[in-house]
Amino acid sequence: MAQAGPVPHGADPDAYDRLRRRVLWRMPSGIYLLGSASGDRRNLMTHNWAMQVAVVPKLVAVSVRRDAFSHELVGEGGAFSLSFLRRDDRALARLFTKPAQEGPAPGMLGGQQVQLGVTGVPVLVAAAAWLECEVRTTAEAGDHTVFVGEVVACGAPDEEAALLRMEDTRLNYGG
Ligand SMILES: Cc1cc2nc3c(=O)[nH]c(=O)nc-3n(C[C@H](O)[C@H](O)[C@H](O)COP(=O)(O)O)c2cc1C
Repeated sequence: MAQAGPVPHGADPDAYDRLRRRVLWRMPSGIYLLGSASGDRRNLMTHNWAMQVAVVPKLVAVSVRRDAFSHELVGEGGAFSLSFLRRDDRALARLFTKPAQEGPAPGMLGGQQVQLGVTGVPVLVAAAAWLECEVRTTAEAGDHTVFVGEVVACGAPDEEAALLRMEDTRLNYGG
């Protein structure tokens, strides 16, 4: 695999590349489903690069691959949601790694019940908690775009639920 970025003087490039990837994978994170919509197209995508980035106003940043369907939808629709997965819902993280199909029943996306937020993006009904954000700023970040959104709605159907984190799974992203 091609090396990306600087290698410290004297380091073996391949060994350093592997170390750097392992360290990046160890950055603690949650796992969410990122909801997006434009017109009648919508999607849910497994996502972990999300964090709050301002207090006033309440801003949350998400970083989305430029070649993802969700990138097109967030860019066009100007909004996104983050559905917080429960720790025992790890199967859902594997389900939403490619564009989700509508249905099979009305009100479902990728086989999961969704509701529409105030901005029109889908939110997972089974989420322990969720945020909905309107995009205020975007920043190019290599092969991703960082969308910074202001929180315009949120909900917490189950505030006691333990949330799914990357270390609860065998999944990783980036590195
Ligand atoms: C655990 C996990 C975390 C992920 N986190 C992100 C992420 O933060 N940003 C991102 O663009 N893609 C992330 N992905 C990849 C997406 O889920 C998806 O495969 C890809 O972006 C295409 O999504 P699409 O349905 O919008 O085309 C992650 C995948 C996994 C398995």
